[in-house]
Amino acid sequence: MQIGICLYGFGNVGREFVRVLVAKSGYLKSRHQIEVILQSIVTSKGGIVRPEGFGAGELLRLAAEGRLREHPEFCEHSPEQLERWVPRNAGGDMPRVIVDATWSDLATGEPGLSRLRRACELGCHIITLNKAPLVADFDGLVAAARENSVQLKFSGATAAGLPTIDTIRVSLAGAEVTSIEGIMNSTTNYILTAMSDEGLSYEDALNRTVAMGLAESETNRDVAGIDTACKVLILANAAMNAGKKLSDVKINGIADITRRDIARWAMEGRSVKLVGKAVRQNGDVVIEVGPAAIPHRDFFAQVREDAKAVKFTTDLFGELTMVGGSGGLTAAAGSALRDLVNLAGALRP
Ligand SMILES: NC(=O)c1ccc[n+]([C@@H]2O[C@H](COP(=O)([O-])OP(=O)(O)OC[C@H]3O[C@@H](n4cnc5c(N)ncnc54)[C@H](OP(=O)(O)O)[C@@H]3O)[C@@H](O)[C@H]2O)c1
Repeated sequence: MQIGICLYGFGNVGREFVRVLVAKSGYLKSRHQIEVILQSIVTSKGGIVRPEGFGAGELLRLAAEGRLREHPEFCEHSPEQLERWVPRNAGGDMPRVIVDATWSDLATGEPGLSRLRRACELGCHIITLNKAPLVADFDGLVAAARENSVQLKFSGATAAGLPTIDTIRVSLAGAEVTSIEGIMNSTTNYILTAMSDEGLSYEDALNRTVAMGLAESETNRDVAGIDTACKVLILANAAMNAGKKLSDVKINGIADITRRDIARWAMEGRSVKLVGKAVRQNGDVVIEVGPAAIPHRDFFAQVREDAKAVKFTTDLFGELTMVGGSGGLTAAAGSALRDLVNLAGALRP
């Protein structure tokens, strides 16, 4: 099966996705019979379209340099003119996929939301690592995908390396999820661990996550708890039919936590973690994010450094807890590849 890809975003994640695609191209062919043809790369100022696909060497060079705009084929045009960037199917029926590795406004989901809706109308499948369109209008986007018979995949927007949405959809299929609770942001978990174990100040710990490339480019979304809130919200809307907006989520971040707070909790036998929760209560779903001082004997207290964890409570399978999912950019890019493999599987007759 050949699959054409239009990649939106050539920053940290977009470039790593290209590296992963090149590294895995042989494996994708031999193990999954998938040949990926990367046909266009689009950034905020324009992009390059190559209907026949880029070569591996050129892709690696572009990913290393990151200077798309200096490429002789770079066209300066609005990224939102989707028809320009998605090559037409020249008589064939090759599935086309938009991979969205850009940023959008969390309140409106734009410009990503309109772009992804338009992609559905054009018959393109969607893999989005960009949370904002899903946060702003999850139900609308799902409906647009369904109406146009295209796949919508977003494991990279819901904790990436930690399998969350796929676990719910495949491994917990048939069960009602009554709560989702998790440590879903590597940056904040690393900061809190470094403050606790090494006595670093909040600022020093934050700076280290930036230097390590762990923090996302919009650091405030991590430390203010917004990134965690987005992930829990998307999962609650996808798995619990919560029908909630970001404004329904009570959010507290970690920026006010001091070394003194951490020392006090340690004296009480507790570790602080940034926890996101969605709980079904009296016919509603209550979603909140905030620091929680967790007894050392509890499982979540053992989740350290850049690891993440999630606990699902269900009617059929009881509690399921998973830990891991660190891996930074490679795991983020890997989650888009996972979505691609699963998407291809769903398209096979
Ligand atoms: N970092 C992670 O580990 C991780 C994990 C999961 C998900 N994500 C998500 O992945 C996305 C990208 O993150 P990143 O760290 O790669 O960001 P980044 O390094 O800032 O790169 C963003 C890219 O998006 C492009 N862009 C911005 N607005 C655009 C628009 N309207 N149309 C087309 N392209 C546009 C930028 O273009 P220019 O080059 O012209 O500026 C840039 O190439 C974010 O939504 C993030 O939340 C990240």
